[in-house]
Amino acid sequence: MILHIEGDINRYYVQTLCMVFFPGASFPSFEQPGPGVPELSVSLTSEGEVFRACAEAAYEGRTARAEKERALSDPSSVERCGKQAVGEAVIAALGELMEYRPSWGILTGVRPAKVATELLKKGLSKTRVRKTLVMDYMVFPKKAVLATDVALNEQRIVGRPDPRDCSIYVSIPFCPTRCAYCSFVSYTSKRLLSLIPDYVDRLCADIVRICGEIRSYGLNVKTVYFGGGTPTVLEPEQIVRILSVLREGLGGAEPEEFTFESGRPDTITREKLDILRSFGVDRISVNPQTLCPEVLEGIGRHHTVDDFFRVYELASDAGIGTINTDLIAGLPGDNFTRFSQSVDGIIALHPGNVTVHTFCIKRSSQFRQTDNLYSMRGGDAGKCVDYSQIKLRQAGYIPYYMYRQKNTVGNYENVGFSVPGREGRYNIYMMEEIHSIIAVGAGAVAKFVRGDAADGAAIKRYYNPKYPYEYLSRGTCDGLIDAIRGFYSGFAGPAAEDCSNET
Ligand SMILES: C[S@@+](CC[C@H](N)C(=O)[O-])C[C@H]1O[C@@H](n2cnc3c(N)ncnc32)[C@H](O)[C@@H]1O
Ligand code: SF4
Repeated sequence: MILHIEGDINRYYVQTLCMVFFPGASFPSFEQPGPGVPELSVSLTSEGEVFRACAEAAYEGRTARAEKERALSDPSSVERCGKQAVGEAVIAALGELMEYRPSWGILTGVRPAKVATELLKKGLSKTRVRKTLVMDYMVFPKKAVLATDVALNEQRIVGRPDPRDCSIYVSIPFCPTRCAYCSFVSYTSKRLLSLIPDYVDRLCADIVRICGEIRSYGLNVKTVYFGGGTPTVLEPEQIVRILSVLREGLGGAEPEEFTFESGRPDTITREKLDILRSFGVDRISVNPQTLCPEVLEGIGRHHTVDDFFRVYELASDAGIGTINTDLIAGLPGDNFTRFSQSVDGIIALHPGNVTVHTFCIKRSSQFRQTDNLYSMRGGDAGKCVDYSQIKLRQAGYIPYYMYRQKNTVGNYENVGFSVPGREGRYNIYMMEEIHSIIAVGAGAVAKFVRGDAADGAAIKRYYNPKYPYEYLSRGTCDGLIDAIRGFYSGFAGPAAEDCSNET
C-alpha cells in the first residue's frame, strides 16, 4: 500500500488503521501506483487550537476524500487531538472507499477499555463515557457498552492498588504438539521437548532468586500465573518440584489467586490435578477452542471434543476452584451455527470463566494470510462474537477483561467473561498494568509499574530471552535480578536478612 503523510502524524498509527481495511497490507517505500495497490494521502495542519486532518484514498479506480476538524479541549492532549482528527479522516475516507465501518472506530490499541477507564477517572458518568466513545472515537454503540462495562468491572475488582503489590508469572513454553492456528512461541518437537528437565532446573533456581528479592523488598504477591505453552506438559514430579520451590519462596504468603494455565486436555490427568490442588492452585484452563469435531480436527489440536468434556469433569471433581475455558471465534471451517453450539455447550457446563478469542492470523502459525482465511468484514466472526457476548451475559457472566490483537478476523476483540466474584485477576493486573509482574522463564516479559496506568504510569519492561535454548544458554537470571533491584532500590522494605534463601 502507498502512504503519503504530511504534518506531525504518527505513521504507524495510520498504517494500523489502513490494515483494518487492507488486512496484511505492507507499506514498502518502493511501492509503485498500479492496479490492486491502494493509496492513501493524509495531512494534518493546525490553526490556533484547531486541528484539521485530510485523507484522500484511491483503490481500483475509485476515490474518496474526508476532512475532519478537532478543537483542542484540554491543553495537555495536543497529540491526542491531532491523532483523533487524523483517525476520523482516515476512517471516513477508507470507510467510504471500501463501504465498511470498523466496529472499534479509530481505536487501534491493544486495550480498548483503557480509554473508557481514563474517561471514568475524569469523573464522566457511564452514559457520557459510552457517548464519548461513540462520538469522538467512532466506536459502535455495542462496543462502547462493552468497553465501559469492562472498565467498570475492572475498577471494581482491582480496588486501590498498593505500590507493594506484584504478581509472579512463570513461563512454560512447551506443548505436546503444535496446533495449526497457534502463533505463540512454544517448543513442540521431540528434540526441543528434551530440554524440559534442564529448563525445570533453571526455573527452580530463578524462582528461588526472585522470591528472595520479593521478600527483601517486602512485596505482596497478589497472584501467581503459570502460562504457556502448556504448563501441564510437565511430568507430575516436575510440577511438584517447581511448585515446592515456589511455595517455599513465598514463605507462607497466600496469593489471592494461583493459576496453572494447563489448557490442552491431552496433558491433564487426575494425578496432575491433585498435585496442583495440593499446592493451592485454584484456577486452571481446560480449553476446547470449539465443540465442533470437524473444526477441532481442522485446527490440529490432537484431542477430541469428548476428551475436553472428560477432562473438564475430572478438573471439577478434583476441586479446582475456577475452571476457565477458551473458545475462538472465526476459526477456519467454523460458522455461526457451529460456533453458537460451542457457546451453548460451554454455558451448559457453567465454568467459572469463559474467554472468547477472535481468530488471529500470524505469520508464525500454519494458517497464513495467503490462505485467504479472513476478510476485512470477518465473515461470520462478528455474528459469533456478538452471540457469545449476548449469551454469556444472559447466563450471568460479566465481561471483566478485554484485549485486541492485530490481524484478527474482522478486527474483533478477545473478552474474558466470569461468574461474578470468580474473575481471573491476574489477567486484569497484567493487561491494565495495575502492578508489577515479576516474570521468569523463556519469553516471559517482566513489567515494573509505578503509579496508575490510567494516569500514565511509568512502566519498565525486562525481556527474558525469548527461546528456551537462549534462556538456558544464558545460565542465570542476573539480568532480571538487576532489573528488580534497579526498580525497587530505595523502596522501603524489610531488612536484607530476609533474603537468606537467595542463591
Ligand atoms: C497461550 S494459549 C495457551 C493455552 C493452551 N496451550 C491451550 O492451547 O489450550 C492461550 C489461548 O490463546 C488462544 N489462541 C492461540 N492462538 C490463537 C490464534 N491464532 N487466534 C486466536 N486465539 C488464539 C487460544 O484460545 C488458547 O487457548
Ligand atoms: S494453542 Fe496451546 S497447545 Fe496449541 S500450540 Fe498454542 S500454546 Fe500450544
